[in-house]
Amino acid sequence: MQHSDPERFALGHAAALRLSKGDVHWGDRSDPMIRRLLSMSSAVRRDIHKMHAFVRFRELPGGGARRRFCAWFEPEHPIAEATGPFFAQRFGDMDWAIATPSVTLMFQGGALSCQPTTAPPPQPNDATEELWRTYFGAIFNPARLNIRAMQSEMPVKYWKNLPEARMIPGLVRSAHAAVERMHATAASNAQRAWQARAARTRAALTPRHAVPTTLAEAAALARDCTRCPLCGPATQTIWGEGPADAALMIVGEAPGDAEDLRGRPFVGPAGRLLDKALAKAGLDRTKVYLTNAVRHFRFQSRGKKRLHQNPDAGHVEHFRWWLDLERGFLRPRVILGLGATAALALTGSGARIAARRGQPEPLADGTLFVSTLHPAHVLRRADPEAQTEVRATLGRDLALAHRLSVAQQPVLDG
Ligand code: URA
Repeated sequence: MQHSDPERFALGHAAALRLSKGDVHWGDRSDPMIRRLLSMSSAVRRDIHKMHAFVRFRELPGGGARRRFCAWFEPEHPIAEATGPFFAQRFGDMDWAIATPSVTLMFQGGALSCQPTTAPPPQPNDATEELWRTYFGAIFNPARLNIRAMQSEMPVKYWKNLPEARMIPGLVRSAHAAVERMHATAASNAQRAWQARAARTRAALTPRHAVPTTLAEAAALARDCTRCPLCGPATQTIWGEGPADAALMIVGEAPGDAEDLRGRPFVGPAGRLLDKALAKAGLDRTKVYLTNAVRHFRFQSRGKKRLHQNPDAGHVEHFRWWLDLERGFLRPRVILGLGATAALALTGSGARIAARRGQPEPLADGTLFVSTLHPAHVLRRADPEAQTEVRATLGRDLALAHRLSVAQQPVLDG
């Protein structure tokens, strides 16, 4: 009955008859009359919602104990009366009038009434309008600008009575420049945060700490280090873990997404595969020292996803200082390198793993180095047979590294 369609009463009457006879039921969209009535009722609900949202009051001068406000609103349907209780509840402590082209809602001294509109209300200049504009300007996010969605939420037909709507064309025009400014500010915020962290690191690197004297001190220093380009995007530095007197040190490539979030090496899919391979080779994960050539997760953001990227030779070079430091404290008997990045970090040689794996190579300080495939290599194999084969290769190399680490005398011939 609140729709503006001139046939609404006739339609309502006909529908009431059919419904009471049981010819049709309410909600039956296959019936053209019911379908039409349902769509009219949605239009009315939408119009009421828009009126709740878009009425803008202006204050009238000379109010007494109760402030006085008026507003002009043009609904699409004769719904003004239906919105009265909403406004009375929301603005119960003031007197107000909301005029529409047909009726005017009045709220005076707590009493709500509705009368035919005789004249549009006065439109005094009002400081509230400035507040609306400030509010709208502040919540407007140019990076989220979606003109179509905005116009469906705030249809253009309501704009003429919305003080903030006058700003929309200007805000839309300047959105691109505003986004650029936001990016620049975000970048400079990130830069400032990075510089603050760098300053903290520099402060931590007092002469007393310049060269850490224990493994724990080195770990603490690495945690705060901001000297590489990867530490900005990464969540944290992933230091090694395991007993400081481990005979076997296992060096991986770099932390992945799971490691970055959890702050520990080898806790993601590759880690789980490594755990199984270790157990199969008779090795207890808690008895070996696990670390990585590179200590930060390197990734590319795609929406909410963080896509893994391999570290490059520059990252390996940068982190070699930390790896050597860690090795110096641990002095393991054997180091097992998982994949080419670890081999490069430990030997300086980028020779292919397939050509060198499973053969112990003595490092300059006498430590035995064994290289093998990275567990991620096993995960990448789609063919089950090939996967079984690379898994077995990894197992054999692990077992060799284990044997070498527990042997009384270093066994160079494998
Ligand atoms: N891959 C690595 O090389 N290291 C980790 O810590 C995890 C996955």
